[in-house]
Amino acid sequence: QRQERIRNFSIVAHIDHGKSTLADRILQNTGTVSEREMRDQMLDSMDLEQERGITIKLNAIELEYTAKDGERYIFHLIDTPGHVDFSYEVSRSLAACEGAVLVVDAAQGIEAQTLANVYLALENDLEILPVINKIDLPAANPEAVQEEIEDVIGIEADDAVLASAKANIGIDDLLEQIVEKVPAPTGDLEGPVQALIFDSVYDPYRGVVLSIRVQNGVIHPGDTIQIMSNGKTYEVVELGIMSPKPIPRDYLMAGDVGYVTASIKDIQDTRVGDTITLADNPATEPLEQYRQMNPMVYCGIYPVDSSDYGDLRDALEKLQLNDASLEFEAETSQALGFGYRCGFLGLLHMDVIQERLEREFNLNLIATSPSVIYHVQKTDGSWVEVDNPSEMPDNTNIESVEEPYVKAEIMVPQEFVGAVMELSQKKRGNFVTMQYLDDIRVNVIYEIPLSEIVFDFFDQLKSHTKGYASLDYEIIGYRPSNLVKLDILLNNEVVDALSIIVHRDFAYDRGKNLVRKLKEVIPRQQFEVPIQAAIGQKIIARTNIKSLRKDVTAKLYGGDVTRRQKLLNKQKEGKKRMKAVGSVEVPQEAFMAILDMD
Ligand code: GTP
Repeated sequence: QRQERIRNFSIVAHIDHGKSTLADRILQNTGTVSEREMRDQMLDSMDLEQERGITIKLNAIELEYTAKDGERYIFHLIDTPGHVDFSYEVSRSLAACEGAVLVVDAAQGIEAQTLANVYLALENDLEILPVINKIDLPAANPEAVQEEIEDVIGIEADDAVLASAKANIGIDDLLEQIVEKVPAPTGDLEGPVQALIFDSVYDPYRGVVLSIRVQNGVIHPGDTIQIMSNGKTYEVVELGIMSPKPIPRDYLMAGDVGYVTASIKDIQDTRVGDTITLADNPATEPLEQYRQMNPMVYCGIYPVDSSDYGDLRDALEKLQLNDASLEFEAETSQALGFGYRCGFLGLLHMDVIQERLEREFNLNLIATSPSVIYHVQKTDGSWVEVDNPSEMPDNTNIESVEEPYVKAEIMVPQEFVGAVMELSQKKRGNFVTMQYLDDIRVNVIYEIPLSEIVFDFFDQLKSHTKGYASLDYEIIGYRPSNLVKLDILLNNEVVDALSIIVHRDFAYDRGKNLVRKLKEVIPRQQFEVPIQAAIGQKIIARTNIKSLRKDVTAKLYGGDVTRRQKLLNKQKEGKKRMKAVGSVEVPQEAFMAILDMD
């Protein structure tokens, strides 16, 4: 029976512990890609992933493996991202699997996201196979990591695979363990079809391409499928598997992971997490939904050229199709015109989406500074949610403000505990407790406002601990806070897109720093531009950008023409991400200045 020879698994790990490299080796050692086709990080297909060396989107690949027992097995390998912002992708991948390969760096040991991923795997009832990777490193200490896995995670690690993905060590051992330990899928082949949509991308020629895991039944080309949440039906045009290129098949059956196209044009109709069934013999119940991830960080995204507004909407819709955690709605800014308020899981997510919009859709965009959602009680007793600082009610109308707090778990070698505590305190954190994981490492737990975490906490944490600390966090709820809106005035006008919400105790410092930073990044104009920071009517900081004295190129004219040309080009280039705010040209950096302070 074919189903007994299927193994569906994901690879999970803390960032940089070597998942993608391990996936490369598995593809290579099973002959799925030839030596010639092989390139590093084969599964990170987006340019952005290749450039940054990180995995953003999951990827599902079918491969065949002939085990030592002589049988041929079918593996479905689902690569997942490791950064905390993308844990949504991880939970989606895991819902399509029976096993998880847990990669732990032999020199670093368990990190915050190792644990977070283990919890996700346990939630999905997966068999966990520990792999201790990078044993080739001089600093590797596999025995210690083995012990740590048993003590901290509480799973058997006696026969954990000892591997070096880089040096191609331990891969065969891993492949055998996958066969032995990951359970085969047990779906009902006869029953009504239930298939989980765990990813989808838009293809201009074929329409929406769905990635599915079939739980029960069999789907063929020509079948009429039905989306269970909205009842819409489509005829299957093509189905098949990725290996890693798409290979069409005659059917996908219970236990299979593959793709389906059905001339689906409306991208809103097929949301990730939905269940597919067949129209003529529908299942009565959809499969269990994933845990919905809610955006935590919001910012405004505006086209530099207002005529791109419609294209921006199309692009956001397309990206949302395979990134259900992205949210957006139309908004207007006095300074920037028509745009969208977008919600993200974190700053990296925000950055990646902005970059994908610009590259994949050829848009030129300005993003405003990020904000969390505040709960504001007005003097009339009503509550409003504010995700855009400029919409904060007037101070005189506010009874109280609450902001989201997270429980942050910071894993760090003992010697850095002092530094971590100092930083957390500075970021308005409340100390909760401290757990010793072993002789070396400590888990420090703080409750910290989310807004402090999203801005630059992680970067600062890394620099305070020589890169050793790792961080995981979850929202624990809203707490009252003494917050105020800080406005920025350019040329005596409030620029709504530059307003931020800050703790009153920090308002004066932030205002001063922000004004100074803005002076650095906003280029000189033809006239003098005052920059001011204000709380309500009260100006708390101010400076001036001096006017441009001369045309920078005038002096050179008549001299070296190519040099003048170069200068002009450079100016044009710099202009690309500038937006005229009133009569002042403001560059993208100005809106992100808040992220770059202290
Ligand atoms: P993300 O995709 O960003 O989540 O990271 P990842 O976990 O997939 O890590 P990746 O495979 O990109 O590897 C991270 C770095 O570790 C790369 O520079 C790899 O070359 C290196 N690396 C991976 N495996 C090994 C190994 O076995 N030994 C050594 N020395 N380096 C390795």
